[in-house]
Amino acid sequence: MSTVQFIKALTNDEGSDKASELFRHTFAEDESGVWSAPGRVNLIGEHTDYNAGLCLPIALPHRTFIALKPRTDGIVRVVSDVDPTSFQEVDLNGLEARGVDGWAAYPVGVAWALRSMGFSQVQGFDAAFASCVPLGSGLSSSAAMTCSTALALDDVFALGYGASDAGRVTLIESAMKSENDMAGASTGGLDQNASMRCTAGHALLLDCRPELTPLENTSQQPFDLSAHGLELLVVDTQAPHQLNDGQYAERRACCEEAAKVLKVANLRVTADGIAKSDDPFQSLKETLDALPDEVMKKRVRHVVTEIARVRSFVRAFANGQVEEAGRLFNASHDSLKADYEVTVPELDVAVDVARKNGAYGARMTGGGFGGSIIALVNSGESEKLAQLIADEFARQGFHAPRALAAVASDSARKVR
Ligand code: GLA
Repeated sequence: MSTVQFIKALTNDEGSDKASELFRHTFAEDESGVWSAPGRVNLIGEHTDYNAGLCLPIALPHRTFIALKPRTDGIVRVVSDVDPTSFQEVDLNGLEARGVDGWAAYPVGVAWALRSMGFSQVQGFDAAFASCVPLGSGLSSSAAMTCSTALALDDVFALGYGASDAGRVTLIESAMKSENDMAGASTGGLDQNASMRCTAGHALLLDCRPELTPLENTSQQPFDLSAHGLELLVVDTQAPHQLNDGQYAERRACCEEAAKVLKVANLRVTADGIAKSDDPFQSLKETLDALPDEVMKKRVRHVVTEIARVRSFVRAFANGQVEEAGRLFNASHDSLKADYEVTVPELDVAVDVARKNGAYGARMTGGGFGGSIIALVNSGESEKLAQLIADEFARQGFHAPRALAAVASDSARKVR
């Protein structure tokens, strides 16, 4: 059986050099600067962001680097190291939603979004991307691309939002708008907030209630695994992952419909009502009884219990209760499998192998329907476990998985 591959993160110099070289090779001049933004793993709180719930991502050390130079016309030219034939040219003038096909929709969409948000000083640009965030793996390669682009455009067109956490919320809006309206991938904000707002050594507790201000909606939770003798293994199952194939939007629509039936603005209101009641178990039962069909009951049960699990996880980890934190990982996965129905056999098998081989807990991370799992293990155990998962995948005839080590890292920044 073959040895499982660990994807290493590019250092700042490696990433900047790669993006710079591609820029020079493609555009025959030097860029104005290089910026980068990370992918993420969500520790817990899945499919809660678009329900105004809680999530808890960390930024990965794996980043997307963008070498960029502004232009004085509306032309955008982009190229990526993922595919040497990836060059695309688009005119921002007259561009409409869904007007760009393929990967270029993401960076072009950011400039288009900023202009439609009123930033008329944003012009076209030339850009070259180099990335070590695995694509289509549920690790937010899209947000790494849109957020690095947003930060670069903020800088070169002097918008003034990139330097502060609160200002970055405006850039997050442009990244989300690009993904939703130009690329056609509905996404709820978790990924872009993680890429723009995480700090090294911390998990970002993100509260997605729309009424909160940027100063109120996040808190940095210390998350230094090595100090606890722990590691977080990520295994990318390589099962195909697509957020824009309708399944994600269908889950979202079901939650919105449930909120209408329950006569609340969003399911967070329901979750909070249940959490504060004298008998949360009975209160959840009464809520579910008020819903018209089995599928909707299952979706709502996931959202309500998952929001509660985020709170419990934060408490458990802060108190050093590793076994409890692992149990919450497991409960989250089981809920995503049975109630939210977003896992696939590869995710379930990887989680199963992790649990049977010493992980404190394991769960899928991200939107699901493919993508990655995370497993909380003792220091030094990641490689052995990743190999056991790869061996089981080979036995079951799945694609060979890849692995990476997740260490809580920094948000988007200017690199050079
Ligand atoms: C994807 C979306 C996020 C979030 C997760 C599920 O990653 O982009 O907004 O909804 O799925 O938690």
